[in-house]
Amino acid sequence: MITKVKKISEGTCSKKDYDEAAEILKNGGLVAFPTETVYGLGGDGLLSTASKKIYEAKGRPSDNPLIIHIAEMEDLNRLAEHVNEKARKLAEAFWPGPLTLIFEKKDCVPYGTTGGLDTVAVRMPNHPVARDLIRYSGVLIAAPSANTSGRPSPTKAEHVVEDLNGKIDMIIDGGEVGIGIESTIVDMTADIPTILRPGFITKQMLEQVIGEVRVDKAILTKGVKEGLKPKAPGMKYKHYAPKGELILFEGAEDDVVRVINEHVVEKQKMHKKVGIIATEETQHKYQADYVMCIGSRNDEATIAKHLYGILRDFDHLEVEYIYGECFAKENLGQAIMNRLLKAAGYHVVHVSNGEGCDADNEI
Ligand code: TXA
Ligand code: MG
Repeated sequence: MITKVKKISEGTCSKKDYDEAAEILKNGGLVAFPTETVYGLGGDGLLSTASKKIYEAKGRPSDNPLIIHIAEMEDLNRLAEHVNEKARKLAEAFWPGPLTLIFEKKDCVPYGTTGGLDTVAVRMPNHPVARDLIRYSGVLIAAPSANTSGRPSPTKAEHVVEDLNGKIDMIIDGGEVGIGIESTIVDMTADIPTILRPGFITKQMLEQVIGEVRVDKAILTKGVKEGLKPKAPGMKYKHYAPKGELILFEGAEDDVVRVINEHVVEKQKMHKKVGIIATEETQHKYQADYVMCIGSRNDEATIAKHLYGILRDFDHLEVEYIYGECFAKENLGQAIMNRLLKAAGYHVVHVSNGEGCDADNEI
């Protein structure tokens, strides 16, 4: 299959620019498109044959459900049963935006889209290209992140080309995304709404609108060891993984820098290529082959935006070991650490002023 790449810059386009993409979606084909979080791989969410194609193109296990993207509030009622008061309040406060809500599904939503579940995940994205594509095609678009399963989510069209060229009908190139990590997912079917995946919309932001919100315990732990089963099926798979071995280091800044540099020296003696995910505050203190700055510790939004791109850059450089610093686990830091921990397979070294102590999965 030849994948057409079409550039659409936000704001300057008319319905006509979307004709071809809309036609593909209406005929059950696949179009990757930008959202404000990451690029999505879109197909008709009400058509199980289209969902099947999405799973195939990504190499994704078919029990891992897809999010359906809408552009109008009325469309929520087409997909979801029992939209309660709290859900309405959240939708009003944060849609369009990086928030996905889970409801009981209506019959029109095929099990092929929900991975066999009786629930459906719904999101109204806040990206003009995503919203125009939904509106102009009239399709409620099921879209997972547009990466090959297990690879970092795409934040630029080039990343989508890397993973899916030749496997899907079209990629809409709308430039780099704004947020860079996937939406916050909240289960609205639980007695107390529960965050299944942290994102840009934090627990504090949700609680300001609806009061108590819980966080699924599996978010910052490997889960298996504690017998925890994540409620979002996708969270159980190894995810966001770079090709090199990523290890995270936690502790006081100077100690972390010193222990990382010791690891670098050791690997360099073995002629291994090493990369570091550094911050603005520390980048000049490392002596590795490749030191990439993810942003300032005081600016979590920038860190989130750069995270997946840096992991892909290290893949291109064929780095064999990647060492990274940990971040605070509150607010947006919770989402950043959730993605970093998964990318590292939960391999964290706790550093004190003496030695580094390897403590897999104790964060
Ligand atoms: O920001 C985003 O959410 C992006 C953009 C494209 O919208 N999409 C995205 O989709 O990240 P995906 O498929 O990569 O991640 C969706 C997550 C998976 O972990 C999946 O298991 C969970 O949502 N999920 C979907 N439907 C669910 C449901 N009914 N119940 C529980 N978890 C669900
Ligand atoms: Mg994904």
